[in-house]
Amino acid sequence: MSSVLMTNADCVNEGRRFEADVLIRAGRIEAIGADLQSYVADRVIDAKGKLLIPGMIDDQVHFREPGLTHKADFASESRAAVAGGITSFMEMPNSRPPTLSLEALEAKHTRAAEVSRANYSFYLGASNDNLEVIRSVQVGQGCGVKVFMGASTGNMLVDDEATLDAIFRDSPLLIATHCEDTPMILANEAEYRARYGEEVPIAAHPLIRSEAACFKSSSLAIELAQRHDARLHVLHLTTAKELAQFSPGPVSGKRLTAEACVHHLYFDERDYAEKGNLIKCNPAIKRPKDREALLNALAEDRIDVVATDHAPHTLEEKGQRYFKAPAGLPLVQDALPTLLEHVHNGWLTLEQAVAKTSHAVAECYRIQERGYLREGYWADLTLIDLQAPYQVERAQVLAKCGWSPFEGRRLRSRVLTTLVNGEVAFEAGPSGGCVYDQVRGQRLRFGRQR
Ligand code: DOR
Repeated sequence: MSSVLMTNADCVNEGRRFEADVLIRAGRIEAIGADLQSYVADRVIDAKGKLLIPGMIDDQVHFREPGLTHKADFASESRAAVAGGITSFMEMPNSRPPTLSLEALEAKHTRAAEVSRANYSFYLGASNDNLEVIRSVQVGQGCGVKVFMGASTGNMLVDDEATLDAIFRDSPLLIATHCEDTPMILANEAEYRARYGEEVPIAAHPLIRSEAACFKSSSLAIELAQRHDARLHVLHLTTAKELAQFSPGPVSGKRLTAEACVHHLYFDERDYAEKGNLIKCNPAIKRPKDREALLNALAEDRIDVVATDHAPHTLEEKGQRYFKAPAGLPLVQDALPTLLEHVHNGWLTLEQAVAKTSHAVAECYRIQERGYLREGYWADLTLIDLQAPYQVERAQVLAKCGWSPFEGRRLRSRVLTTLVNGEVAFEAGPSGGCVYDQVRGQRLRFGRQR
């Protein structure tokens, strides 16, 4: 394993910004200091004027393996992830078959060990019928239990009241929820179908997948979590109305945490006119005032984590009419640069952007030895040029589906280099850059979550 010395990097870590050299050996950060340049390393990277941050840990992706590999697979999407400065991912159970058993969960880890360029972990899915499996899962066997409290891609809805109650009472792991009330959505769909038939306009999506449906479901999740003192992480919030349910303040010690996703922070309903079904996702992208409320909630630490919900579908699938077009967007490759747009625009500080994409994720899930620039920790690092504008183009897209919702958009920050466990996994270059395909991620390790 080669050693790397980064010199004069503009480090942002744990609320501080400072210039330092960083020495990486045997996969780990050996030293962070003012003058390490006398050390000999296999590779020296001049990082003067470049931002060095802990690699993003993305706690919500759909990489589609097994069963949906015409859309994506662990190899293709982990390549796109490292090109986007994401060094670890946590993958969702709505594959085919869904990840509802410990065997299926372990099989995903085994497959990822073979092909993933980034570090990885996987959620155990919940259903109306696998309570005993959930009760038996142990720390380290997965990153959490995913509960679809609203149906989305893969139809993994848990709607049996007694089962939901028991999951919140008994899950040994963090519970991550998708919150949208399915009966309300079905009623809204019927109303729009009666009016438009199959020609429902995409602009109706946030009215069908409504604010009220989100609120009803997230308030139920929170009530159940409080009843049983469960560790609850509510995924992809999209509405201003839901935010009052979460407390501002530091993530450590919180029993209830929240996540926002990059597309809900970047787009709002005005973008449906240009992007159409390409930005159809669940929960839906909503009003400008919701987007602004999400950004404010991030700044006041009411929302703790930023993730992608990378959910690739093919262009052909997306080209169908409203009801048939699947929900979800490919996002990992440009996620960090889009988040940094909000830093450029003054919504967030750099320190906050870093905390939400690395430190807070490590705290929420109790990920061991990652998520910080700390001596002794694994060297998962992302080097960024904050002043290197680029336009997102289809030709550069690495996700297997081959398109990006950000196409045509100009982003001001560029990922230059990504290190995964001390190995250079990606380097930017004139025509996009190079993913080093020999690099393999590791399985994430966890402490007790409940
Ligand atoms: O938009 C979405 N797409 N939301 C989800 O909850 C699932 C995801 C997918 O898997 O396509």
